[in-house]
Amino acid sequence: MKGNFVTDSIKYVGVDDKDLYLFESQYEIPDGVSYNSYVILDDKIAVMDGVDERGQDEWLDNVKKVLNDRKPDYFVIQHFEPDHSGSVEAFLKEYPDVEIVGNAKTFSLGANYADLLEHKQLVVKEGDELKLGSHTLKFIMAPMVHWPEVMVTYEESEGVLFSADGFGKFGALSIEDDDWACEARRYYFNIVGKYGAPVQTLLKKAANLNIKIIAPLHGPVLSENIEYYINLYDIWSSYKPEEKGVLVAYASIHGNTEVVAKYVAKKLQEKGEKIAFADLTRDNMSEAVEDAFKYDRMVIAASSYDGGVFLPMEYFLMDLSYKTYQNRKVAIIENGSWGPTAGRKMKSYIEGYKNVETIGDMVTIMAKAKEADYAKLDALIDAVIEAGK
Ligand SMILES: [Fe+2]
Ligand SMILES: [Fe+2]
Repeated sequence: MKGNFVTDSIKYVGVDDKDLYLFESQYEIPDGVSYNSYVILDDKIAVMDGVDERGQDEWLDNVKKVLNDRKPDYFVIQHFEPDHSGSVEAFLKEYPDVEIVGNAKTFSLGANYADLLEHKQLVVKEGDELKLGSHTLKFIMAPMVHWPEVMVTYEESEGVLFSADGFGKFGALSIEDDDWACEARRYYFNIVGKYGAPVQTLLKKAANLNIKIIAPLHGPVLSENIEYYINLYDIWSSYKPEEKGVLVAYASIHGNTEVVAKYVAKKLQEKGEKIAFADLTRDNMSEAVEDAFKYDRMVIAASSYDGGVFLPMEYFLMDLSYKTYQNRKVAIIENGSWGPTAGRKMKSYIEGYKNVETIGDMVTIMAKAKEADYAKLDALIDAVIEAGK
């Protein structure tokens, strides 16, 4: 994307949000996020999606500049979540004669958020086309690729797929980021992760399209190596590990579990394993969730607490359960100063996941790890390596 051009006739009018601390009140976004919106200029003009209310004024300015005194004919709403539709009412106030384009669910769900009734509505369904002039929009339903009303739009003449939240990533566009996959993966697993099957369905439909450009609702417009992005989405949505490697995630109260977790991570690394490391009491949970899905194995270590497991670990395992963590292998280390209970609790989560095996024998540490414990940890480390073969 050069300046605000996606192509000569498709303009970017989205906005960056660099001040938001937590996206969806839970995901830290140190580099911000972008709310993307596009204008297609033709005989008829279509505006593709809105932005979060936080960026409303800047967005309306961008739209106005690109329209250059013309009025939009269509306002296509692909996704009604507030990070895109928070500005819908302001837009309709500015352009009351625009025809809102959505599917039946867009309007029924959207009515819970905004007053759409006084405006013209064009209800589209799977495969419907809307001619703008030389551009033609084809609507493809993508229910539960995050929300039930989601649809994506394929513009045939230039091969642009407007992909809604799909292929989105964290990070404001004005902040340079060479590694698309890192923040796109964190975005995917935390936000769309539960909905792998609907994403697979959408990818099958997309396979019939000649896609040259992907224009998502967050992050950069993708115009090269489209196969690379589609392939990653295929891996992620089918819950296959992306790489061989181990996430060592721990929740330590007084630091003794941390010592053990660090020992395990260091040894695994020395023996050639790729490692991700997460202190669940301090690090952002969404990074740990991302790494749990990225790699094929995980070592979890936690203190016992109130007859269960120290809560940051329970929250993490519960989060993985929400995201339908599956097809992986997990080793367990528990700690308890008098009667360890963490292991039982962690096991109950592991047993609840689909196709997740426990690696080796669980290691129990009583407060500080002793020499005999390190021998057991070494055996567990070997089992983790073996499980990756
Ligand atoms: Fe969304
Ligand atoms: Fe979004």
